[in-house]
Amino acid sequence: MLIECRNLKKEYISANIRTTAVDNVSLSVDRGEFVVILGHSGSGKTTLLSLIGGLTRPDSGEVLINGVENWRQSDEALSDMRNSTIGFIFQFASLIPTLTALENVLLPLTFGRTPRGNHQRAVEILHLVGLGDKANSFPSQLSGGQQRRIAIARAFINQPDIILADEPTGDLDEETERDILKVFSEFNRAGTTFVVVTHNVHLAQTQKNARILEMRQGVLSERATVDA
Ligand SMILES: Nc1ncnc2c1ncn2[C@@H]1O[C@H](COP(=O)(O)OP(=O)(O)OP(=O)(O)O)[C@@H](O)[C@H]1O
Ligand SMILES: [Mg+2]
Repeated sequence: MLIECRNLKKEYISANIRTTAVDNVSLSVDRGEFVVILGHSGSGKTTLLSLIGGLTRPDSGEVLINGVENWRQSDEALSDMRNSTIGFIFQFASLIPTLTALENVLLPLTFGRTPRGNHQRAVEILHLVGLGDKANSFPSQLSGGQQRRIAIARAFINQPDIILADEPTGDLDEETERDILKVFSEFNRAGTTFVVVTHNVHLAQTQKNARILEMRQGVLSERATVDA
């Protein structure tokens, strides 16, 4: 099993109010799967992704990636796992404003011990997301949807086994969304495992072979149909 979540729980307390963002979630994802988790705003999707990716430590429960528990390894091993095994597409594009599009895509190569990408690969991925002509533009010179696509390209640079994508087509029109989902499908066919969280029912409906789950108030369940 590539990803194994067991009884994950994460609570936040702010202003004396306790929110159970992720409530006893168990999830197993096989290599090569394309998992879509649907859920309304505030249902715990971002929190769950950040638990899976080892960015947030659960209050209880565990996450195993390739059989290794995220928080039962050295800090160095955990950050190496985050950098080389996982490609993150964050909900908000989070580009470095002082770096060009190409430099942003290349940035993950400067961390980690065993970068798998290179300059040529970065150029290729920029073409895949339809931005081959924007390599030297700065984020402030790009539209919201273009910035989003740069962030998507960045997630693929290290040829990660797993892509964790948070509302990846958030700022995209339907046609660009379709193009990006096609890129996802191609990577998925080539073996990359996807966990995509979104409130976009359309995304789940159009992604063939996707396994659809649903999150409600921190609780994850299987969902048989994807009718709106
Ligand atoms: N750092 C935090 N401190 C306090 N509460 C938080 C924190 N982060 C998230 N929460 C709460 O946890 C719950 C789940 O939040 P989360 O961001 O995981 O939801 P989401 O499904 O990603 O929502 P959206 O679709 O709006 O992005 C929400 O009620 C949110 O207010
Ligand atoms: Mg979110």
